[in-house]
Amino acid sequence: MPPSFLTSRPYLRVLSVARFKLVAIFLLVSTVLLFTSYSWGSIKTIASEKLRLDDDDNSPDYWAWDTRIQVTLKVGATESAARINASMDGVTACIDNLFVVADQATELHGHQVHDVLADIAPFAKEINATDFQLYEALQRGDSNIGGEAGWKLDRFKFLPMIEQAKKKNPVAEWFVFLETDTYFVWDNVFRLLDQFDPYAPHYFGSPSPGFKLDGGNRVWFAYGGAGFILSRGAMEMLTDRKIGKYGEYIDPSLSEKYMEVVNQDCCGDSVLGFALWEAGVKLSGLWPMFNAHSLHGIPFDHVHWCQPVISLHKSLLSDVTGLAKWEAQRSKKNPLLYSEIIDYLQLGHLEDRNEWDNGDFSGFIEPAQSPAHESLAACRKACHEHKECFSFTYDSKKTCVFVRTIRLGQAKKLGDGSLTAGWDNEKILAWRESHHCEAPLWVKPSISRIF
Ligand SMILES: *[C@@H]1O[C@H](CO)[C@@H](O)[C@H](O)[C@H]1NC(C)=O
Ligand SMILES: *[C@@H]1O[C@H](CO)[C@@H](O)[C@H](O)[C@H]1NC(C)=O
Repeated sequence: MPPSFLTSRPYLRVLSVARFKLVAIFLLVSTVLLFTSYSWGSIKTIASEKLRLDDDDNSPDYWAWDTRIQVTLKVGATESAARINASMDGVTACIDNLFVVADQATELHGHQVHDVLADIAPFAKEINATDFQLYEALQRGDSNIGGEAGWKLDRFKFLPMIEQAKKKNPVAEWFVFLETDTYFVWDNVFRLLDQFDPYAPHYFGSPSPGFKLDGGNRVWFAYGGAGFILSRGAMEMLTDRKIGKYGEYIDPSLSEKYMEVVNQDCCGDSVLGFALWEAGVKLSGLWPMFNAHSLHGIPFDHVHWCQPVISLHKSLLSDVTGLAKWEAQRSKKNPLLYSEIIDYLQLGHLEDRNEWDNGDFSGFIEPAQSPAHESLAACRKACHEHKECFSFTYDSKKTCVFVRTIRLGQAKKLGDGSLTAGWDNEKILAWRESHHCEAPLWVKPSISRIF
């Protein structure tokens, strides 16, 4: 009999005993590696889960997890209604116990929105009356408020959000936090969490450099836009408070404790990373699974291929709802990998697009004397002949940009029709054909493998 922690993993349940042993040994070894070699630069798997062809649809198991996972969506009063709608009609529509926090108590899509600043407002106003003018205005029902002010207020929301999420669902094993421009692939979120002990301190996300420490080192934090996840263990360490002889709290709450630090910093996600670090919880950087790229901006290559997609940031609103629908229809037999999400974008089957740029990331320009710069046709031909070129953007003012990756990019209207993007479909299809994923690469935590 396999130990129960492994049988509770739906995708391992069907493994034969022999394979199970191999997997168990691998998990043990990889867990040891995981914790001894924290900053391994290259992509390594943390589990040797094989892509399976038999029926192993796990979605029903996971969707029964709703009390074990608390999902919290942070909204800003100055955000566009269209963006909020795309998130709540698409990404979070399927989350039954969604907890929505904002800088104003209201109702959105049937959810009571919790005013996450209410508790700290009296104290915070004393610290930064200017930044809290917006909050005051919102409470008065004033709606003529700029986005810049909303951004300044946003940093104050992170720590109260953490405390409120814990109060909302004190029995949760995992706390997932996202913003309205975060896309989460929930099936993969569940598959990821299923591999870890929630009572150990985990802080998962896309690593970003934050606070400078004495000696030049930096604290790494999870970039808020890509979403992040805290285990119950991490939450306990973060929100732990000393008590006196009657059991009363004798030190300030998390929000109060870091109020001045938040005030002095630009960003709440960075301060959260610092508070976690001070509490003894280090970031487990899981890029590229947690990703700050948008869907149309993903530069498909070895780094974005057999890795499961967990989050994306700032995707087009049409993609947010479109991808959610596409995902709902796909088989959940296997985790969604980058190599599959490429189908949604139809890369490998695209015609040229005018007023479009696919080279504003991972693009490179050949020397000025290269014949590639002569015309669109020359650019296409030179790209085809260049080993590292999969896509290109031609500027009719005679610049050919090669793109090292398979990348959709986006419309860029300069008004003069000078930009045209193209894709070497033949090479793209050949690359896909020769890069089948044997197994998902659940990357192990690293802070040197970064966005
Ligand atoms: C957002 O959704 C609400 C509720 O469904 C709707 O009333 C509103 O018109 C939508 N706004 C936009 C900009 O799409
Ligand atoms: C309030 O916050 C702003 C940044 O949003 C900062 O420039 C200013 O110094 C702060 N005011 C005080 C009194 O700390």
